[in-house]
Amino acid sequence: MRREVHVLSDKVKSEIQQLKARYPHPNSALLPALALAQKEHGWLSPEVLEEVAEVMELSPAQVGSVASFYTMFNRRPVGKYLIQVCTNVACSLLGAEHLVEHLKQKLGIGVGETTPDGRFTLLEVECLGSCGTAPVMQINDTYYENLTAEKVDQILAELRSR
Ligand code: FES
Repeated sequence: MRREVHVLSDKVKSEIQQLKARYPHPNSALLPALALAQKEHGWLSPEVLEEVAEVMELSPAQVGSVASFYTMFNRRPVGKYLIQVCTNVACSLLGAEHLVEHLKQKLGIGVGETTPDGRFTLLEVECLGSCGTAPVMQINDTYYENLTAEKVDQILAELRSR
């Protein structure tokens, strides 16, 4: 028997219900539903996934496998700024690995880690779909393109000053 979980706000649950009603099968609404849940919580904990499954009337395993497949879904808590550096082919050819090393050194953390002050999480991701402006990174919802180490320094300084 599924245990009772209450982690999503009534507003988000109602938005997920509305999404579900738009499609013949709830699977089709799962990606936007997970995005709503993540927006509210910052990451998709097992409890959040369980409640999304409950609202969508899907099994927790179905919801969990979708959440694990896509890199835009965080399965662990992340910092205020989630830095995702593309290390796919175009970005890699133009120095993405060097940028990752630079970020590791500047932030004092490894890939997959969060700074002790909870501000920055660093991840490597697959193609961000902007290969023509490689190398690229995404921080929260913003893309930063044609990156250099100097540009990365400016971006970090700007974020630290907020
Ligand atoms: S390879 Fe980096 S955006 Fe496509």
